[in-house]
Amino acid sequence: MRVSVFGLGYVGCVSAACLASLGHEVVGVDVNPVKVDLVNDGRAPVVEEGIGELVAEVVRSGALRATADVREAIRDSEVSLVCVGTPSEPNGSLCTTYLERVTEEIGAALAERGGRHTVVFRSTMLPGTCLNLLVPILEKYVGGTAGVDVGVAVNPEFLREGTSVRDFFDPPKTVVGELDPASGDVVAALYEGLPGEVFRVPVPTAEAIKYADNAFHGLKIGFANELGAVCQALGVDSHQVMDVFLADRKLNISPAYLRPGFAFGGSCLPKDLRSLVHAAQRADVSVPILSHVLPSNADHLQRAVELVERTGKRRVGLFGLSFKPGTDDLRESPLVELAERLFGKGYELRIHDANVNVSRLLGANREYIETRLPHLAQLLADSVDEVLEHAEVCLVGTRDPAVLAALPHGDAPVIIDLIHLPDAEARRAEPGYVGLAW
Ligand SMILES: NC(=O)c1ccc[n+]([C@@H]2O[C@H](COP(=O)([O-])OP(=O)(O)OC[C@H]3O[C@@H](n4cnc5c(N)ncnc54)[C@H](O)[C@@H]3O)[C@@H](O)[C@H]2O)c1
Repeated sequence: MRVSVFGLGYVGCVSAACLASLGHEVVGVDVNPVKVDLVNDGRAPVVEEGIGELVAEVVRSGALRATADVREAIRDSEVSLVCVGTPSEPNGSLCTTYLERVTEEIGAALAERGGRHTVVFRSTMLPGTCLNLLVPILEKYVGGTAGVDVGVAVNPEFLREGTSVRDFFDPPKTVVGELDPASGDVVAALYEGLPGEVFRVPVPTAEAIKYADNAFHGLKIGFANELGAVCQALGVDSHQVMDVFLADRKLNISPAYLRPGFAFGGSCLPKDLRSLVHAAQRADVSVPILSHVLPSNADHLQRAVELVERTGKRRVGLFGLSFKPGTDDLRESPLVELAERLFGKGYELRIHDANVNVSRLLGANREYIETRLPHLAQLLADSVDEVLEHAEVCLVGTRDPAVLAALPHGDAPVIIDLIHLPDAEARRAEPGYVGLAW
C-alpha cells in the first residue's frame, strides 16, 4: 500500500520504517525540517534499538522517504497514519492541538485530491476524541461524510520504547477501531502477515483499550514497588515473594478479578488489606496505592446506592446477600453493606438470597448479621416472586438461576445490574436496565 505517516517521533518513525520494510511504499511527514532531512539522509530521528539500520535500509531501497509537504504526501498515498504527539496540558488534560491541526491539513489536502483515502489515528487519545472532535474537522475540510467519502480508523500503538522495532514485528496484539468495515480492512491489510491477534472494535473501544493497558501497567509497577518496600521493611525478600506470586497463573497472572463487577468483600480481602496497610504505616512505608484500595471499593459500592437514588423510587428489591455465590458467609459482604445503607436511607427493602436463611445462620455469621443488620429477618423474602411483586427497583447481585430466570424485561421494575448478568449485552437496549459500570 502507499502510506503516509504524520509525525516522525518515536511512534511515527518506527511505524514508517517497519511498514516500509514490510513492503509498503511509505512517505513520512513532519513539521520539523530536521527530522525530514534526517530521514531523507537515511538516518533515524529517534534512538531505538535497530531503527538506525532499518531506516538506512528502507531509505536506500526507496521504500521510505520524508517530506514537509502534506499535499504531496496525501496525493501519493491511499492511507495516512497519524502519529503526532498528544502531551499532557498543565492541568493533566490531553492536548489535542497537534491532532486537530494535522487533521485539518489532511482534510484540506484530501479535498483537493478526491478518491477514497483512509485516515488512521495511531496517537493515544481519550475515548470520544476521534468521533466527537476529529471526525467533524475531517468532514468539514473534506466536504464529505466519514465512513463514506473518507475512511477513519483508530489503531493505537502498544510497542515499548527501546524495543519497539522488535515489538512491531511481534506485537502483543493489533487493535483496529473502525468507523466502517472498509476502513478496518485497510488497517488490517497494513499489518498483514504479522503475528498476534487482531481485534476489530468500535472506535471509542480502541481509544479506551490503550488507556486500560497503560493504567494497568502503571498500577502493576506501583503495586510491585509498594509491596517490595513493605517486604523490605518487614525483612522479607520481595523478589522471592513476587517469584511465587507470578508463578500463580490461576488467580494472580490471569483474567481472574479483572472484569468490572460489584465491590469486593468477604472475610479476607478487606481484613488483610487493612492489616498490610497498617503494618506499612507502622514501618513508615508510604503505600498510597495499597491504602486506597479499600476506599476505591467503598466508592464503587456507593455508586450502586446512587443508582438507586437516581431512580427516585422507594420500593427496592435486592437479590443476593452473601459475599459470593454458594456460601452463606455474610461477614463483610458488600451486599450486606449495600442493604444496610439503603435500609438506613429509609428505602423499603426486600431481600432474597437462596443461601441465606436467618434461622440456619450460625456463630460468627449470625452475630455479624445481628449486629450489622438486625432487621434482616424482616427484610428477607423466601421467594424471588415476593421480591419482584414488591420492587420498583431490583438490584441484582447474584447469578442464582432461579433469579435470572424470573427477572423481567422492559422498563419496570428498573433492573440495576451489579454483576454483569449473563444477558447484560441484550438487556442494555432495554429502558429499565442499568449496569453498575458497563
Ligand atoms: N512513545 C511511545 O512509546 C508511545 C507508545 C504508544 C503510543 N504513543 C502515543 O503516540 C503519539 C506520538 O508519540 P511520540 O512519542 O511518537 O511523539 P513525539 O513527540 O516523539 O513525536 C511527534 C511528532 O509529531 C510531529 N508533528 C506535530 N504536529 C505535526 C503535524 N501537524 N504534521 C506532521 N508532524 C507533526 C512533531 O514534530 C514530532 O516529530 C502520542 O499520542 C503518544 O501518546 C507513544
